Amino acid sequence: MDLGKEAEELVRRAEAAAGKAWAPYSGFRVGAAIRGASGAIHVGVNVENASYGLTMCAERVALGCAVSAGEREFTALAIAAAGGHDAAPCGACRQALAEFSPRLAVYYRDGGRMHARSLEELLPDAFHGGGTP
Ligand code: THU
Repeated sequence: MDLGKEAEELVRRAEAAAGKAWAPYSGFRVGAAIRGASGAIHVGVNVENASYGLTMCAERVALGCAVSAGEREFTALAIAAAGGHDAAPCGACRQALAEFSPRLAVYYRDGGRMHARSLEELLPDAFHGGGTP
């Protein structure tokens, strides 16, 4: 699939980041790269813990870094697992991303091939709040 230059740059940044993952328990190293409205790219990796449930996914780490840098809107995200393995975004990360940019373009490998989807396709009817208390 020809994703275009900007998406390919994001995929390359996610692949490069995956090498820095901390994944001694699963051995599954993931990198994510998210482009903010400023045009800047922010990366994240999965960070595991001996207390397994504390594990942070690469997408949410990238999102947290980007928000910490002042970004509030995002145009695109790429996810890549080391070794070229499939790595579709998990459900929790889809919800976390929907907080900011429901129309985000998401690039990832699944079934051995690249996919380009909008976040709305990946998470229809995301939760956006329970109303006024
Ligand atoms: N993982 C991610 O980083 N992103 C996802 O969307 C799915 C899973 C990580 C979490 C854990 O460290 C490893 O992959 C295996 O589940």
